[in-house]
Amino acid sequence: MLAENGLKTSKMSNLGEENKSMPESVTIKVRDRGPYLVSGPVKLVDSQGNEIDVGNRADFVLCRCGQTANRPFCDGAHKQAGFEAEGSGS
Ligand code: FES
Repeated sequence: MLAENGLKTSKMSNLGEENKSMPESVTIKVRDRGPYLVSGPVKLVDSQGNEIDVGNRADFVLCRCGQTANRPFCDGAHKQAGFEAEGSGS
């Protein structure tokens, strides 16, 4: 099944929410001169293995430039810093 955003989805059968769809796979997209866009059912943990709350968001962005004030998330600081990198992850 494909969701409106084009991601593959499956049915959830949790707490009576049987027809609610969620993505089946995780996609991490490297943005040119910007963060990593993470989409899908992923658990984000810190260096100690503690889960980092990403709220109810289906997608979130992780900083790639090291300039954010809200690690590990991108806060847009890469633009002010003039971060340069192509989408290949370099
Ligand atoms: S990539 Fe956006 S603040 Fe670092």
